[in-house]
Amino acid sequence: MKFFIDTASLKEIREAASFGILDGVTTNPSLVAKEGNVDFREHIRTICEIVNGPVSAEVVGQDFESMLKEGRENARIHPNVYVKVPCTVDGLKACHALSSEGVHVNVTLIFSAPQAMMAAKAGASFVSPFVGRLDDIGTDGMELIQELVEIFDNYDFDTEILVASIRNPLHLIESARMGADIATMPFSVISQMIKHPLTDIGNKKFLEDWNTVQGKKK
Ligand code: E4P
Repeated sequence: MKFFIDTASLKEIREAASFGILDGVTTNPSLVAKEGNVDFREHIRTICEIVNGPVSAEVVGQDFESMLKEGRENARIHPNVYVKVPCTVDGLKACHALSSEGVHVNVTLIFSAPQAMMAAKAGASFVSPFVGRLDDIGTDGMELIQELVEIFDNYDFDTEILVASIRNPLHLIESARMGADIATMPFSVISQMIKHPLTDIGNKKFLEDWNTVQGKKK
């Protein structure tokens, strides 16, 4: 399973990359906005220099023509850029046009199996179902992942399932058990995944015991 970080913070990306677990990065306009008044394309280029894997750069235009133009420009930033488009009619058209030109496309804001199938048929390299936002409205987000894994396996779709809007390590564990290809997680979830209270307790006790004996030797 590939682990992506869901952030535009260079500090968080560098820190997660130093753990040796990072396979890619997803950004979205809200995450980029959190970084202040940055030059978007320069920022994406810097991210590509830190992580050697797919880096999603989302378009903000809402009609086909502007998505196509922006998508082409984003794709030129670096070979690892995956152009992110929303799962709308124009987004699907842009996905089809860009993928026909050899550009990798990540279709985002997916909330149903039919949406994911449409995106896959239109040539998406990644589909991004948002599990946390489904949970937020009282629908089990993980059920969607189960459906997508089953459907994509039935027909050997090349499109990879990128589980997005992950809010906790349980989302990650369930996604892995279901066989989803990629999980994109905020830095907070990546940090939580490393931690276990018994590790901290055990580590503290090992040090105490060691220091007790070392102290007696002196
Ligand atoms: C995915 O690519 C999105 O950037 C992201 O996972 C959205 O997550 P949120 O619902 O926590 O904003």
